[in-house]
Amino acid sequence: MRGYSEDILSEVRAKSDIVEVISGYVALKQAGRTYKGLCPFHTEKTPSFVVSPEKQLFHCFGCGAGGDVFSFVMKVENVGFGEAVRILADRAGIAIEEGSQETREARERLRALYEANEAACEYFQRVLAESPEAQIARAYLKRRGLVDEIVGKFRLGYALPSWDALLKALTKNKVPKEVLLEAGLVIPGKDPGSCYDRFRARLMFPICDSSGRVIGFGGRVLDDSVPKYLNSPETALFKKGRNLYGLHLAKDAIRKESAAVIVEGYMDAIAAHQHGFGHVVASLGTALTEEQARTLRRYAPGVVIAYDADAAGATATVRGMEILAGVGLIVRVASLPEGEDPDATLRRGGAEAFARVLGDAKPLIDYKLHLAVSSCDGSTVEGRVNAAREAARVLATIESAVERSEYTRKVASELEIDPDALSKDVEALVHAGGARTGQSRPGGRGGRRPKAPARLGAPRAPGDRNAGSRHTKSEDDIGRSGEMMKVLEAEKILLRLMAESRKVQTIVLSEVGTDGFHDPRHREIARAVAAQTADTDMEGDEGPAAEPSKVIGALDDEETRRYAAGIFLGQAGEGQGDPAKMAHDCLGVLREHSLRDRIREIERELASLGNAGEMERSRDLLAELWSLRARLSREFQPFSGTG
Ligand code: UTP
Ligand code: MN
Repeated sequence: MRGYSEDILSEVRAKSDIVEVISGYVALKQAGRTYKGLCPFHTEKTPSFVVSPEKQLFHCFGCGAGGDVFSFVMKVENVGFGEAVRILADRAGIAIEEGSQETREARERLRALYEANEAACEYFQRVLAESPEAQIARAYLKRRGLVDEIVGKFRLGYALPSWDALLKALTKNKVPKEVLLEAGLVIPGKDPGSCYDRFRARLMFPICDSSGRVIGFGGRVLDDSVPKYLNSPETALFKKGRNLYGLHLAKDAIRKESAAVIVEGYMDAIAAHQHGFGHVVASLGTALTEEQARTLRRYAPGVVIAYDADAAGATATVRGMEILAGVGLIVRVASLPEGEDPDATLRRGGAEAFARVLGDAKPLIDYKLHLAVSSCDGSTVEGRVNAAREAARVLATIESAVERSEYTRKVASELEIDPDALSKDVEALVHAGGARTGQSRPGGRGGRRPKAPARLGAPRAPGDRNAGSRHTKSEDDIGRSGEMMKVLEAEKILLRLMAESRKVQTIVLSEVGTDGFHDPRHREIARAVAAQTADTDMEGDEGPAAEPSKVIGALDDEETRRYAAGIFLGQAGEGQGDPAKMAHDCLGVLREHSLRDRIREIERELASLGNAGEMERSRDLLAELWSLRARLSREFQPFSGTG
């Protein structure tokens, strides 16, 4: 049947559990007897794609796609039945020698194309490393600040200024000319049967599929001539809208960060990796496609767009983010400094500057509002009216009424216009119903942008092999114990102040309560202070609250009494002035700690979720994480590193 014997087919089927196979493509989550996930064949935000392990079938209630494990692979890999069988057999480690003439030939052809690309890649790499004529390319790379290690990792190469250097070298190594033609590495010449190298005098960037096989090339001139880049033509292997540059190197980091960063240029992606941002991919110079977006969604729930800060970049950004949001990714937009691309930012300000750019990335809605408002001339009435009109259109797309009104107020104050008037316009658009497109999810309350770099963009040491672990454990522990010492110190001060001032006590009790203290002794002392205060009959907020000696007398054991005496006798924070101000600072320390604690908890959970299943859960967690990080950097001083 169809080129394979029934025996082979049933063996492949038996060894290809549909849940396992589909999990390689879709994040599945168990729901009773079946598994659910977001359909890879159409765009949806709530899962209607169901896989049954019992029946070994899948079905999408959204788009109607369905079938067995073979149909799934055919559809998702866009291949015929024979190729699907081969893919599954490979996966299961089953050797299949049979196959129709046709299948065998197609498979052979693809294999030959992969081999030709691999051979060309190795050849270009060798030329770059060894040829005297490639000195100019080596010097160029040096000028651009790329180190050998990263050049090797991305397998950069050089095509000599020659019409047939590659052709000669590869045909000598038995790669047939026809295959080179089909791979787009050479171009037919005028004379029948003749051909010449496509890439000449260019720095070569191999483009790989997600498993790292070379499928095409981009070639950059070393001067200002045009075209700047020449890319492989579309071939049986190379489809532009399908691949993301650098994904094979970035995918693990993307999983770990729970987010990818998309940049425009090859050079941007490479520079980012060199500076420790392993979760960066480039979009291959074309508009982002839905397929690329869905590919990213397989690895992480979040994505940050970091396109060039020019007009073209802004347009590409808006289009790109709609597509990314459309497949259910949480999108943030990074604004690079005027006139810079990520490569320039990294060269100017290093990892720190780029980390700040990523940390400052705004939710989609903020970015759109920013574009709407900044496109108009705020110095004239007419300009501000135009800006308000544009902004109203964006505001009307916000689903939540609370968020809508928050943002409306913010925009109105920026434009110095009447908030009620703007709100009326916005609500009119909402009720007209036409504005419900381009739905976006502003992350977190108010979605205001963070001011300091957030962990998302935290750099790693250049060339760090262990790309996943940003700090060693002990660094983490030290940072955290320092944090805990600060917290305990703040609690002691608060306890003393609670006894000294009724006003402070009221504030502390309403914000942290007696159970919010971290040291059990502190909880006991806080309860005793509160009880003492309740017993003493005093008017108003002013004046002392509790008599320390009575508080101590109410404590159970000797050790705690001694400890409490130390607190009340007040070495901690003594003489620092205004109690209300001091209490405020101490409460800030506790608040910051609880934020960091929650962030750490989310990070741990995200890390444990991994790729399989739980897409929805990780998306929620990521949204919370982002909003907490934003709050942290907004409300507290710049990152101390471990948070
Ligand atoms: P850029 O011009 O920003 O390139 O184009 P770059 O990679 O940052 O290169 P440098 O920094 O100038 O050396 C962004 C991307 O658009 C595609 C490439 O994928 C490039 O990386 N592109 C650009 C082309 O395919 N052809 C071109 O002629 C120009
Ligand atoms: Mn560039």
